[in-house]
Amino acid sequence: MRNKGKKSKHAAATFLKRFLQHPGRIGSVAPSSKFLAHAMLSQVDWDNAINIAELGAGTGVFTRDIVKLARPDANILVFEIDVSLRKLIKEEHPDHKGLKLYSDAQKLEEVMRENNIESFDYIISSLPFTVLPHEMSENILNAVNKTLSPDGRFIAYQYSRIMKHKLCEKFRDIKSKYVLLNIPPAFVFNCGK
Ligand SMILES: C[S@@+](CC[C@H](N)C(=O)[O-])C[C@H]1O[C@@H](n2cnc3c(N)ncnc32)[C@H](O)[C@@H]1O
Repeated sequence: MRNKGKKSKHAAATFLKRFLQHPGRIGSVAPSSKFLAHAMLSQVDWDNAINIAELGAGTGVFTRDIVKLARPDANILVFEIDVSLRKLIKEEHPDHKGLKLYSDAQKLEEVMRENNIESFDYIISSLPFTVLPHEMSENILNAVNKTLSPDGRFIAYQYSRIMKHKLCEKFRDIKSKYVLLNIPPAFVFNCGK
């Protein structure tokens, strides 16, 4: 238990340090709360989710739950651009067969093909689209649109509603909810094609 507490303090400290070094890439001062994780991941039909991508995994707060909830035969492709944060996730899941770690979410389509995956059932995103370079956000949203299966869902949180119009340009059937118990509070968007 003490070890678990130590690890999560270390993860939070690494996250804050990386935020101070790269605020425009990390996008928040602290990892997401368990309430936000629940609001995102309770929208997944875990029995039928085979191909899952996670974008912007940070310290792996969602990755941890995805690994617990996913079918044992699921493919879980996790993207985290920050090498120190990626290392934390790797250390936490050294032997998980279905979990693979990658860097830049702009490579989503290429990585999907490399893994012989036809399309994703779910793409779970924590990417701070409003602070990322415009071209990077566009590339990633286009890649999500291309790689999501026709009945797939793109579930993303944002700290403001600014992205809603952009999501509406790329996706249909957008549902949203507000999660107050997070620093800062967040909007969760669940988008289909
Ligand atoms: C707001 S943090 C979210 C971290 C974690 N999922 C959470 O909710 O606590 C966003 C993460 O996206 C990562 N990121 C930013 N641009 C990225 C990119 N192009 N590809 C993959 N990860 C990226 C950052 O390094 C950061 O860890």
